[in-house]
Amino acid sequence: MLAAAVAREAGELVVAGRRRGAPASSTKSTGTDMVTEFDTASEALIVERVGAARPHDAIAGEEGTRRPGSSGISWLVDPIDGTTNYLYGLAGYCVSIAAADRHGTLAGAVYLPVTGELFAAYRGGGATLDGIPIRCSDQTELGRALIGTGFAYEPGARARQGRRVAGVLPQVRDIRRLGAAAADLCLVACGRLDGYYEQYLNPWDLAAGELIAAEAGARLGTFPGARGEPAGVVASAPAIHDALVAALVGAT
Ligand code: IPD
Ligand code: CA
Repeated sequence: MLAAAVAREAGELVVAGRRRGAPASSTKSTGTDMVTEFDTASEALIVERVGAARPHDAIAGEEGTRRPGSSGISWLVDPIDGTTNYLYGLAGYCVSIAAADRHGTLAGAVYLPVTGELFAAYRGGGATLDGIPIRCSDQTELGRALIGTGFAYEPGARARQGRRVAGVLPQVRDIRRLGAAAADLCLVACGRLDGYYEQYLNPWDLAAGELIAAEAGARLGTFPGARGEPAGVVASAPAIHDALVAALVGAT
């Protein structure tokens, strides 16, 4: 799969760069939304490889790539999801690459270079971790569920997200904030999380991971935002999905 091969190559570039020391960085949307030299280098490598193999496809990437195409296939690229982890030398960052047609995501790959784990899925073809089929958890009780989430970079949004997570926390086993949305969705796919929710995400954060989670049997959905917030995504073991959405709605 092209997405998997390119995600692995970009991930190896990124992790090798981090081993040489702290990367050069600057800020984007807020003073804490970072971009490093390896976000840019990873996106350039991915665009080069995908563009060479699929010259008529469109490509959009988090760091600014907007290449039009004529084939009907579009690629969505997050060159480092979890840039804050990357900057601090924490493990949970990844490279996320998806290809979509007009029906939705066709194929996706998420590579975590520190652990060397490659998650991948084709639409209708199941999901794999390092080539081995994976399934989501069979959790049936929200009160026993380990739930991942994440927070946006804008302080007002973070304050609202903090209030929501405070309402959810007493209703679940525990909360994890691991720092990369694409990886969180893959952790739902392989059962290391029972569920995950988040708001304020971009298409390149979600496309590959959502397909991988869905193909692993997780239920994907949304929950409505309160008072002008955007809707959020929810991915979970099917049996706890409705209870998790209800908890999210009731938590603000
Ligand atoms: C971020 C991560 C994080 C999520 C943020 C995203 P980035 O992506 O996925 O887990 O909570 O909302 O923006 O900025 O590291 O690519
Ligand atoms: Ca990113």
